[in-house]
Amino acid sequence: MSFYVTTPIYYVNGEPHLGHAYSTMAADVLARHHRQRGEDVFFLTGTDEHGEPVELAAAREGISPRELADRNAPKFERMAARVEATNDFFIRTSDPRHMDRVSEVIQRVYDNGHVYEGVYEGWYCPRCADFKTERELGPGNTCPIHEIALEREREENWFFRLSAFEDDLKRLYAERPEFVVPEHRRNEALSFIAHGLQDVSLSRPNLNWGLRLPWDPEQRMYVWFDALLNYYTALSFAREGEDLSERFWPSCFHVLAKDILKFHAVIWPALLLAAGLEPPRGMVIHGYLLMGERKMSKSLGDVIDPGEVIDRFGADALRFYCLREVSFGQDGSVSAAGFETRYETELANDWGNLASRTLAMLARYRGGVVPEAAPDPELASGDDGLEGLEVRVCELIDRAELSGALEAIWSRVRRLNRYVEERSPWVLAKQEGESAGEGDGGGAPGEAGREAQQPGRPRTRSGAGDQLDVVLYNLAEGVRTLALLLVAFMPASSERLLDALGEDSREIAGFGSRGGGAMTERIPPLFPKLD
Ligand code: MSP
Repeated sequence: MSFYVTTPIYYVNGEPHLGHAYSTMAADVLARHHRQRGEDVFFLTGTDEHGEPVELAAAREGISPRELADRNAPKFERMAARVEATNDFFIRTSDPRHMDRVSEVIQRVYDNGHVYEGVYEGWYCPRCADFKTERELGPGNTCPIHEIALEREREENWFFRLSAFEDDLKRLYAERPEFVVPEHRRNEALSFIAHGLQDVSLSRPNLNWGLRLPWDPEQRMYVWFDALLNYYTALSFAREGEDLSERFWPSCFHVLAKDILKFHAVIWPALLLAAGLEPPRGMVIHGYLLMGERKMSKSLGDVIDPGEVIDRFGADALRFYCLREVSFGQDGSVSAAGFETRYETELANDWGNLASRTLAMLARYRGGVVPEAAPDPELASGDDGLEGLEVRVCELIDRAELSGALEAIWSRVRRLNRYVEERSPWVLAKQEGESAGEGDGGGAPGEAGREAQQPGRPRTRSGAGDQLDVVLYNLAEGVRTLALLLVAFMPASSERLLDALGEDSREIAGFGSRGGGAMTERIPPLFPKLD
């Protein structure tokens, strides 16, 4: 089974910020998770380098658009690496291989009769590179996203016959209820379609930076057509000498925020149909990271600088915080104070501490070897039981409910912490040591080590010793299953923990699927406490 996941390609007119990193981190969670499920995964991110937003920004700086793109694209590429994104390719739309492929596809759209010449008259936001319909305008003919006054434009354009695809789009949405998730975004897209689709400009006469139309080189392609097609073109050249299109198209899943819903949920599938290609498998629309009440953006200044957070706390903590703090799909505020609280309570205390204690007790009471025992029914069952958790998490991730998946995992982290308190393994160890001492002079509890597991150990130890085996096995097994589910979210720390638990596989596994016997080792805290 193949799974192809993408992020939006980011405009190179600005610097990367946490908002961009958010989409990239979310897409990476999906990529990693599907790899763990043994699927054939391809993950694409990149930069959008043509069009008016870039042209204007370059002009403001007195440099060419290409200079601006060459300066900023590597910053986005580095951002992806810093958040530990495992993208298989980084596309830049100024790549001639992309441009050639776009020309081919758009020529097909033209040949198929979906393009005509006309005059555009209406409102245009140069920052969105978007022709706004009357319904999309803010008060006083402003852009609702950028809050700037819009100019009325009149220009000769080539048009894409979007209106001709109204019925096809309605059918697509009816046949595939999960084409756009979450549902309220799907409804938004549907209502846009239901209001009647207007044809959209495919080209613009007054741009200097962009692809020329193959059949009319005087006109440059409207940047959104060039940009959207990246998802398709990249497959043809991402691998030297190999065309991945057959392998990964249309099993493509897009991650994006609601600002660009219309382009992805309406124009994009219509464009593909016009070119005789299949629409993608689906898309998840997430909300905005806010600072206070405002959408995080470079112009507002960064309160949380992803680079600084990563330097101090690591990419895992940033990934966890963003996907946990803001319910995926909704808008939500992020703040440095909120980050520190979650880091301290959930990463350092709940999870890091659980991992450290488990490894420490295995070392102290069983010489680091996970004892042989069965899953404790009490821990396995119930609302926050560990049994079946992996199925539940896969379902949630399949619905792109990333925060929901983290919450499901976290309720088990808390459950395991309660289990430690309830069972007090240190008391059991003491009893084990005492009864061993009363019996035939077994070793001190601290050094019980492997002997505790040897066959033929003194029967007097069976009560507390067996109970301790059960608790330690269940802790090790619980932590292992959770760490496997967390690999996608927090790869570095989860890998370290799994190595420490003697687990070589990264395949998602159910609670109780591994027996005892693994050799574990203690490691430094996964999330050291803040000073
Ligand atoms: N170049 C277009 C996308 C073309 S895709 C074929 C574009 N670029 S952008 O640089 O403006 O990036 C927009 C995307 O960045 C959003 O859709 C979202 O994925 C991400 N985000 C930017 N700021 C964000 C927040 N404050 N919060 C969440 N996501 C944010 O649009």
